[in-house]
Amino acid sequence: MTIKTAKFESSFGDVSQMGENKIPEFAFIGRSNVGKSSLINMLTGQKALAKTSSTPGKTQSINRFLINESWYLVDLPGYGYAKVSKKSREKFGDMIMRYMLERKQLITAFVLVDIRIDPQKIDLEFMEWCGLESIPFQIIFTKADKIKASQVEMKLEIYRATLHANGWQDFPAFFISSSNTQQGKDEISAYLDSLIPLEM
Ligand code: GTP
Ligand code: MG
Repeated sequence: MTIKTAKFESSFGDVSQMGENKIPEFAFIGRSNVGKSSLINMLTGQKALAKTSSTPGKTQSINRFLINESWYLVDLPGYGYAKVSKKSREKFGDMIMRYMLERKQLITAFVLVDIRIDPQKIDLEFMEWCGLESIPFQIIFTKADKIKASQVEMKLEIYRATLHANGWQDFPAFFISSSNTQQGKDEISAYLDSLIPLEM
């Protein structure tokens, strides 16, 4: 699938503002600074569509982008950034969880994890919560340009083993990406395409 058009549609402070429709949505989620907004720009080929920053905590609301006039990519705030106040941390957590629980149009979420770092408790807990709530998710490893190609398989193996140790039997799909080199663009696009229903 080629993303031909991508437009910022709107920002929402809460899922209740997002309205009823039958348009499929895919959401990017994960720790602050992992590269959610950058990945949206990479996939859509628009450098500044979603706002990015080297400072964690950039995205603070639910941002929705209309793709090919027919489906949405959703950029969510990050979780787990220690320096935002406890109150806003709870608020972001709440915003993300309410979105995940209530958004019927959500086809699948993509949990982004930095390929350089070992599996983090907060990500594993988030995935476990998705499992308990029967919310489908896949994993996208980000920043693959920051490690040697020869290390990639080892990192994936560590993640697989950790998920296994945490009781996962059916693994989510794994994608390896880099917003700098566009690695993963074709695979992720094809996967999105395979999930877009003909009718909703
Ligand atoms: P929040 O909105 O704060 O939760 O962050 P985010 O997950 O949206 O991250 P964002 O896309 O803003 O990127 C954070 C930083 O990581 C920026 O400095 C990006 O340039 C950098 N970055 C994102 N993706 C990649 C990547 O694939 N490779 C490299 N080397 N840097 C990346
Ligand atoms: Mg962001």
